[in-house]
Amino acid sequence: MSSPVSHVAVLGSTGSIGRSTLEVIASSAGTLKAVGLSANSRCAELIQQAQSTQPAWVVAADVEAAERCDWSQLPANVKRHIGIDAIEDLVTGDEVDVVLAAIVGSAGLRGAWAALEAGKTLALANKETLVTAGPLVTKLAAQRGATILPVDSEHSAIFQAMQAGRRSEVRRVILTASGGPFRGHTHAQLQSVTREEALSHPTWEMGPKISIDSATMMNKALEIIEARWLFGLEADQIDVVVHPQSIVHSMVEFADGSVIAQLSPPDMKLPIQYALTWPERRACPAPRLDLTTAMQLTFEPPDFDRFPALAMGLEVARLGGTAGAVLNAANEAAVAGFLDGQLAFTEIAPACQAVLQNHHFDPHPTLEQVLRLDVWARQEIAKWVCA
Ligand SMILES: NC(=O)c1ccc[n+]([C@@H]2O[C@H](COP(=O)([O-])OP(=O)(O)OC[C@H]3O[C@@H](n4cnc5c(N)ncnc54)[C@H](OP(=O)(O)O)[C@@H]3O)[C@@H](O)[C@H]2O)c1
Repeated sequence: MSSPVSHVAVLGSTGSIGRSTLEVIASSAGTLKAVGLSANSRCAELIQQAQSTQPAWVVAADVEAAERCDWSQLPANVKRHIGIDAIEDLVTGDEVDVVLAAIVGSAGLRGAWAALEAGKTLALANKETLVTAGPLVTKLAAQRGATILPVDSEHSAIFQAMQAGRRSEVRRVILTASGGPFRGHTHAQLQSVTREEALSHPTWEMGPKISIDSATMMNKALEIIEARWLFGLEADQIDVVVHPQSIVHSMVEFADGSVIAQLSPPDMKLPIQYALTWPERRACPAPRLDLTTAMQLTFEPPDFDRFPALAMGLEVARLGGTAGAVLNAANEAAVAGFLDGQLAFTEIAPACQAVLQNHHFDPHPTLEQVLRLDVWARQEIAKWVCA
């Protein structure tokens, strides 16, 4: 029996996750179909993607970039929309079954929120959605009967491993971290790392923001917070272990002491596909694991001293409320400052810590409060960048 076609809106299609998603869709033998694509400013690439995937619509969020672009090669049957507001309307359309949310940063929240409000299945790569507004987002999903499926490889691994027991039997989850490009660096060496060094990740090919987050280990901090809301865990049920080979993507320890892990080579196509085809497993274009070739799987404790972002992640997961929105926005602005050469690598975490400490904490914020704090935290970081 052939599988029914699942119609996917790919938000952030021109990014690293977006491109991998289109590869997964292309190799799905017609069981997955891209009905909508969105980009920010890379309009020429968006047009090329539209030529090969023939979606119903495309969105270019950046109005100025869209106005500069020559759209003459966009297929005539593909509707073009300009500006981020269009995403909210389009993901709610009847033709959309699944929204693959792969916009980077808290800019991804609005599309993910609209998808959940419309009761769509949300395949979530944009971890910033849950970091910024975890309790509100999970409550909305429950109210609308919408499912959130993780795309982040660690959370996909946890989601897969959790199927080995009951939720009530989960003792803790163990997030693995590659350790990033500066795993062995001393404090002194970290002071002088360059943009290029920070962008070159040893095991994963990713967009610039998440690459810097991996280098500071803020990515793992954000993942701790993401896991807390996605799986309804307490902060002290989430541990981190450094695993430089990025083969074991995370683990779940059950009440009896059994630890269940998910293993595969570091390639996002597998977790993307699992989120798009769940609960089915199908042949995937990602490389397969070959344990007959010589390899080592090693594990070591993380260094909370050299990578202070990790402790912030645990603290914010404990606090909940407005803390996630503030940490996330502060970090986005600090990373942008580092990429622009205005902030040193070792200033990113202290700047975030200072903004976090200075904010008026509210344990039960509204979405409007969260969005206001997102703006405020960026303005606070601007003071560091300009100092
Ligand atoms: N890359 C990975 O391996 C990986 C793994 C796990 C989770 N994630 C998460 O997945 C998300 C995407 O990561 P990525 O590495 O794919 O990022 P990326 O390569 O930088 O791509 C980001 C995408 O978002 C679009 N975008 C950027 N700013 C936007 C805005 N203001 N409004 C609308 N669209 C915007 C970009 O459009 P343009 O191309 O036009 O700029 C691009 O399509 C992040 O939340 C990241 O944490 C990534």
